[in-house]
Amino acid sequence: MHALALLTGLAALQSWIAPASAETVLGLAVFSRHGDRTTRRFPGYGLTSLGHNQNYQVGAHYRSTYLSNSSPLKILGISEDVYVPSQIFASAPDQKILIETSTAFLQGLYPPINREEVLNNGSTITSPLGGYQYVFLRSEEEESPDTIWIKGDDGCPAYTSSADQYFQTEDFQATAAETQEFYSRMLSYLTFEGSDWTMTNMSYRMAYDIYDAIHVASIHNATSPARNVTSADLSRLHALASKLEYSLNANASSPIRSIGGQALAGAMLRQLNQTIVSRGRTKLSFFGGSYDTMLAFFSHVAQLDRPNFTYLPDYASTISFELLVPGNATEFPRTVDDIGVRFRFWNGSSLDSEQLMQVYPLFGSSDEVTPWTTFVDKIQERAVTSLKQWCGTCGSQKSFCLQYNQDQLEVALSQFGGNGEGLSKGAIGGISAVCGAVVSALACAAAFLLLKKKNNPSNARLAVASSPSSSTKELNSFQP
Ligand SMILES: *[C@@H]1O[C@H](CO)[C@@H](O)[C@H](O)[C@H]1NC(C)=O
Ligand SMILES: *[C@@H]1O[C@H](CO)[C@@H](O)[C@H](O)[C@H]1NC(C)=O
Ligand SMILES: *[C@@H]1O[C@H](CO)[C@@H](O)[C@H](O)[C@H]1NC(C)=O
Ligand SMILES: *[C@@H]1O[C@H](CO)[C@@H](O)[C@H](O)[C@H]1NC(C)=O
Ligand SMILES: *[C@@H]1O[C@H](CO)[C@@H](O)[C@H](O)[C@H]1NC(C)=O
Ligand SMILES: *[C@@H]1O[C@H](CO)[C@@H](O)[C@H](O)[C@H]1NC(C)=O
Ligand SMILES: *[C@@H]1O[C@H](CO)[C@@H](O)[C@H](O)[C@H]1NC(C)=O
Ligand SMILES: *[C@@H]1O[C@H](CO)[C@@H](O)[C@H](O)[C@H]1NC(C)=O
Ligand SMILES: *[C@@H]1O[C@H](CO)[C@@H](O)[C@H](O)[C@H]1NC(C)=O
Repeated sequence: MHALALLTGLAALQSWIAPASAETVLGLAVFSRHGDRTTRRFPGYGLTSLGHNQNYQVGAHYRSTYLSNSSPLKILGISEDVYVPSQIFASAPDQKILIETSTAFLQGLYPPINREEVLNNGSTITSPLGGYQYVFLRSEEEESPDTIWIKGDDGCPAYTSSADQYFQTEDFQATAAETQEFYSRMLSYLTFEGSDWTMTNMSYRMAYDIYDAIHVASIHNATSPARNVTSADLSRLHALASKLEYSLNANASSPIRSIGGQALAGAMLRQLNQTIVSRGRTKLSFFGGSYDTMLAFFSHVAQLDRPNFTYLPDYASTISFELLVPGNATEFPRTVDDIGVRFRFWNGSSLDSEQLMQVYPLFGSSDEVTPWTTFVDKIQERAVTSLKQWCGTCGSQKSFCLQYNQDQLEVALSQFGGNGEGLSKGAIGGISAVCGAVVSALACAAAFLLLKKKNNPSNARLAVASSPSSSTKELNSFQP
């Protein structure tokens, strides 16, 4: 039995310290970087076979840690072999590489099972690929509001202008000057027939792309001069790419720089909370995303101020949050008092690595487990937890932000040759809500015109609000 008597966060924490005491994992949220891939410079880049294996291996390790009946960290009540859709939530942006990453992870999590189905006519059937399990993956297309949780820095003008400031800093200028000779020398690794790398491209400003091109070619391209890169050069390229990317995604006095990590934190909180409020119905949540989101999360949200967290995480790295209670729980706890959160980071996919699923205390504390209520407070201080908050912070022009920005609506409207006069605030609000679901700002402007014509704002508002799908259709027919 777990210690129900422990009411305060502090007391609950002490029960975690006793080394032999059992614990029960109630749920898990994971964010993964993609595995080895082709270079980002070419369109249609994606995972290599090596990369697929890495993400698969990571998924398989999560399986043996959190799903296996013999694991002390098995999630309470999770199905070991047969995928149960209600227990798993998985989401990735609609990008080839991140869909591949997430699919490979999920393949490792729930590998094929040979279940035979007997038909009434006596035939026995098995699924393709030896009983492959089709784990549901939500893919978020670029105009979907749910992209912000995984790619919170995309389509965020406030982020872009803050990141651009880095190029004006003394730190940037000094680093660029110090490394110019080094980068000039690196050109020899990128020089071959038909290459579009020239001396003008070789500088610290391009640190990530240069590192990426040389690193990828050094692994995959049998004829590339990059095969000859020395490990000292490669690690300097890695360090400089890390410095640039960290600078673009972290700045203590400019929190917008880590907006991607803040949105991810909001998503992680929402999924963990979902596990709690559903009393364990949702058990494991997964997101596929990028290294920059990880860096932003490490710095501003998690406050992991070890120097190692300022470097690019390796391919297929995962961060994860366990929800857990002390003791051998047999049912989901009735209160959150005993629930704690433990953070882990696994740098890469290697199973022998010392860094395999390492636990790191969060928020500058030395405690490995943060009581749930403290975790919520700390995350809420730093996270983006609503679409409205993200749209406002970013000053975003994304179509799904239109609903929060009346000025923007009016601009859209005036571009369409009309104005908002004659519409009540309520009517604007009503259409704005619908516009959130409509892809094109033009269609929304058309809606205003339509309503203005009717000149009966309150009825129109009701019509729009009560029947969003039919009015969406109507609106779309107004597009030129
Ligand atoms: C049984 O039904 C399945 C599906 O219609 C068919 O593919 C199979 O050939 C049938 N088997 C026999 C023995 O008729
Ligand atoms: C961090 O942000 C502050 C405030 O916007 C800015 O003055 C400073 O130059 C930034 N530092 C870097 C390294 O970008
Ligand atoms: C190098 O710079 C030139 C000129 O700006 C540009 O056309 C080319 O695409 C760049 N090459 C790379 C690899 O970025
Ligand atoms: C591999 O290197 C050769 C130069 O030796 C180059 O022509 C080719 O484009 C490279 N392949 C890829 C996929 O980058
Ligand atoms: C690597 O360096 C060796 C010796 O310097 C040279 O012979 C070889 O051609 C180089 N390989 C590539 C792919 O450039
Ligand atoms: C958890 O979810 C419930 C139900 O949706 C909500 O009322 C509550 O505010 C959420 N808590 C946090 C910390 O997000
Ligand atoms: C930092 O990372 C390197 C390379 O992965 C590792 O060897 C080293 O032990 C790490 N240092 C700390 C303090 O964790
Ligand atoms: C992850 O590994 C890379 C080297 O591959 C290292 O530079 C970085 O510091 C490591 N990150 C952490 C948090 O240990
Ligand atoms: C919890 O269960 C494990 C395995 O069944 C057992 O070894 C351990 O003693 C139990 N711990 C407590 C505190 O009941």
